[in-house]
Amino acid sequence: MFQSNKEYIDFLIQSGVHTFLKETPNNLLETQELKEKSLIKKDIKELGEINEIKELISLISNHQSTLQKTAKKLVLYDGDLQSNLMIIGEAPGQEEDEQGIPFVGRAGQLLNKMLSAIKLERKNVYITNVLPWRPPQNRTPTDQEILDFLPFLQKQIEIIKPKIIYLLGTTATKAILSTPLSLGKLRGKWYEYKSVNLDAPINVLVSYHPAFLLRSPNYKKDAWSDLQMLEKKINEN
Ligand code: URA
Repeated sequence: MFQSNKEYIDFLIQSGVHTFLKETPNNLLETQELKEKSLIKKDIKELGEINEIKELISLISNHQSTLQKTAKKLVLYDGDLQSNLMIIGEAPGQEEDEQGIPFVGRAGQLLNKMLSAIKLERKNVYITNVLPWRPPQNRTPTDQEILDFLPFLQKQIEIIKPKIIYLLGTTATKAILSTPLSLGKLRGKWYEYKSVNLDAPINVLVSYHPAFLLRSPNYKKDAWSDLQMLEKKINEN
């Protein structure tokens, strides 16, 4: 029997042992970069544990997606985290991808005008999109992409807890109201968004996407009447 570890080690050395085998082999392919990445991953919370937007940003940045490979910047939100109004668009375009901010291109400028027509400033609204990465060539998001990123959008709703959600365009409407019906059929009425993670349902209104209004100005009249419905509801709250 050995009195101490040192005695035992001395005995081993004198017996000619100069190497110890680990229980797991060394991964010679693991680079420093990979090691750092897996260490960073351990600090990222799972979706269910998240209750802050900045934690959600880390999670989305590390979520494997083919869109991320072609996009330049993550575009999650702009505006006020305390806002009672959440506006949801489709996906970042080229300018949004470059700046990392939603609705900063031509559609965004129209959105700013639409908001100011009902005395709102974008800095007082929470603005986001269904997808946080730009689809290549600004193509329409696929149903699979919408489903893939939906939990992150739902999480934003649960964190921000807005009183009203304003959906811009078909993609946002499909994602939140889960319906294939056209905007023409859905607009003009209030809906409710419910979740087990929310204490109360959220009022939802649907309208045309500003990029569509730029291409089809005839629909601006309807969009204006949707904005007035929105304004009325904001004033009731
Ligand atoms: N279109 C969108 O749906 N979102 C943006 O951020 C920009 C254009």
